[in-house]
Amino acid sequence: MILITGATGKVGRAAVDQLHEAGVEVRALVRSPETADLPPGVEVVRGDLADPGSLDAALDGVHAVFLVWPTLAADAAAPVVVRRLAEQAQHIVYLSAIGADERAGAVLGSHGYLERLIDETGVDRTFVRAGGFAGNDLGWAESIRTEGVVREYYDAWRRSVIHERDIAAVGVRALLEGRTGTTYEVTGPESLTAPQRARIIAEVLGAPVRFEQMSREQMLAEMATWMPIGEVNDALAGMDEMTAQPEPVLPTVVEVTGGPARTYREWVADHLADFR
Ligand SMILES: NC(=O)c1ccc[n+]([C@@H]2O[C@H](COP(=O)([O-])OP(=O)(O)OC[C@H]3O[C@@H](n4cnc5c(N)ncnc54)[C@H](OP(=O)(O)O)[C@@H]3O)[C@@H](O)[C@H]2O)c1
Repeated sequence: MILITGATGKVGRAAVDQLHEAGVEVRALVRSPETADLPPGVEVVRGDLADPGSLDAALDGVHAVFLVWPTLAADAAAPVVVRRLAEQAQHIVYLSAIGADERAGAVLGSHGYLERLIDETGVDRTFVRAGGFAGNDLGWAESIRTEGVVREYYDAWRRSVIHERDIAAVGVRALLEGRTGTTYEVTGPESLTAPQRARIIAEVLGAPVRFEQMSREQMLAEMATWMPIGEVNDALAGMDEMTAQPEPVLPTVVEVTGGPARTYREWVADHLADFR
């Protein structure tokens, strides 16, 4: 029995599908079973990672965990939750991020913190450190649908964005083949700027999509609509650093799964309905 958290999210949902298709018994931890919309045959159990007391039913009989953590939001509960997961399961695959460190209050710091907590339990573990998700570009979906435009501040930031199915596939391989003690860094197969990705979306859509560079002030205001204001400046400083140093293109997906990493064009085709 493999427990998957974040099962309604991008990577978690892909992991549910892949493990279920492989014939593995899968249990999904979700906060709202009524809206989870998971495949028939997948056991759905209510639980909240921010509330360790809510996890008993989800943990019962679990052998391994595919852990997607609600970064920062549930960190206060992390020491107890991680200990409970490690007491129950023999293997934890944790979805982390490239550049994970221990900076307090930052997303990458939260990932480093979770990695340390997991390591301190001594449980067999695999860390899947992902680069930027292609799925972040779903943030462009509404302006593409309504105005045919992508607005971004960073026009030169080259990212090797990765399809959520490839991130999940690396973690699923680790679970099925018992690959433990490893830290995989995973990226997509090509390095693309935002204007290049907007062009690919236009080509796949068969409709014009123009790129418009927004000002830094606009970017700040936009991020403050979905991120605590205290984190916005740090996040922008991180993006400035990454713009100066593009994300690498790593061969991990092909090495682990045996198949090529999915291209951005394939990701867009898989999400066409969101942009149309
Ligand atoms: N975006 C990137 O480029 C990137 C790169 C590297 C790593 N990551 C990491 O990947 C992970 C997933 O990020 P995402 O933005 O793609 O999110 P996501 O997986 O699309 O959605 C978040 C998931 O977490 C669940 N969740 C939220 N709070 C929860 C809680 N308290 N208890 C249980 N489940 C909870 C949500 O379920 P509900 O249905 O209940 O809301 C949803 O399934 C994060 O740890 C993130 O830092 C992201």
